[in-house]
Amino acid sequence: MASSSFFKLCFMTMFLIQYGHPVTSQLSANFYSSSCPKALSTIKSAVTSAVSKEKRMGASLLRLHFHDCFVNGCDASVLLDDTSNFTGEKTAGPNANSIRGFDVVDTIKSNLESICPGVVSCADILAVAARDSVVQLGGKTWTVPLGRRDSTTASLSAANSNIPSPFLNLTGLISAFSNKGFTTKEMVVLSGSHTIGMAKCSIFRSRIYNETNINTAFATSLKNNCPSASGDSNLSPLDTTSSTVFDSAYYTNLINNKGLLHSDQQLFSGGSTVSQVKAYSSNSATFFKDFGNAMVKMGNLSPLTGTSGQIRTNCRSVNSG
Ligand code: HEM
Ligand SMILES: *[C@@H]1O[C@H](CO)[C@@H](O)[C@H](O)[C@H]1NC(C)=O
Ligand SMILES: *[C@@H]1O[C@H](CO)[C@@H](O)[C@H](O)[C@H]1NC(C)=O
Ligand SMILES: *[C@@H]1O[C@H](CO)[C@@H](O)[C@H](O)[C@H]1NC(C)=O
Repeated sequence: MASSSFFKLCFMTMFLIQYGHPVTSQLSANFYSSSCPKALSTIKSAVTSAVSKEKRMGASLLRLHFHDCFVNGCDASVLLDDTSNFTGEKTAGPNANSIRGFDVVDTIKSNLESICPGVVSCADILAVAARDSVVQLGGKTWTVPLGRRDSTTASLSAANSNIPSPFLNLTGLISAFSNKGFTTKEMVVLSGSHTIGMAKCSIFRSRIYNETNINTAFATSLKNNCPSASGDSNLSPLDTTSSTVFDSAYYTNLINNKGLLHSDQQLFSGGSTVSQVKAYSSNSATFFKDFGNAMVKMGNLSPLTGTSGQIRTNCRSVNSG
């Protein structure tokens, strides 16, 4: 046994004896502190600049991390471009013409490659950019564990089946998150991400024309920009009151039957999640705290660590050679 593994084993054993439960994360907050001390500040300044140019970009970056992690773990698979001999995840139903922010990730990556080449993974960039985005839009910070590595593969079929659909009912939402190890409570808090960002008419049309658990004036106000048979890609804010501020208004909207997506309103439709929605609506501090914890857990979904995977040079493609 190599001596470093021996010491790791000793440490793990001591940890288990002391705390009595297994170390679940192989990631650590200080992962780049000697290999790339400016990694975090470099990511933050690029996020700051992108989000101050366009606030929605903060939402788009947050969503990229989610769509990465729910598909075979947080391994930057979502960033890989399709080529003639490689099929990535970008054409999957939940991603096509919808996920965005790739140019910002490219800028961050190229800035990092110029200060510490081959060190900072694209998967870690997504995790940190998601956190920095939330903070810049008014949310509360959390510490991001680091040390993820990047995949050499992607899965179109997993992207199609593992990312929850906006047409799911509460049971379906609970089970989509439970399949990834999340409690119902964590599903509700992560859905609070929809306090920022936009959705396309094609996604919420049936809700505003056909559903009954929707505020009438709210539904009417959305129809101009989302006709019954055209305007598929027209955008409306997920949080009708403050779509560029990371606050708890998403939950207040649900209480007022002003959730934009069918799936959003499911969290306040008489089911088991009603009391949690009320609690977050009236206490944003609890929402922020639970959100940060759930984001750390999401960021821990099956990371590649150690010698698994690679550190991509370009986030859009697997390293050649
Ligand atoms: C609970 C199940 C979820 C469903 C069904 C869902 C579905 C959707 C849909 C359909 C959109 C609009 C896409 C479009 O019209 O192009 C959207 C946007 C968004 N989602 Fe979710 N989502 C869920 C959970 C999450 C989670 C867990 C996060 C982050 C941790 C997240 C972050 C976002 C953000 C920030 C946007 C706005 C993106 C932008 O404006 O570019 N969502 N989501
Ligand atoms: C796949 O195509 C790219 C160009 O798009 C090429 O550089 C690469 O060598 C090809 N890989 C394989 C395994 O054929
Ligand atoms: C939720 O959706 C599933 C799948 O579409 C369906 O089988 C189930 O009956 C629905 N549950 C409720 C409570 O509506
Ligand atoms: C509303 O429901 C009716 C009946 O199911 C359907 O024919 C129609 O296409 C739906 N409209 C929208 C906008 O989804």
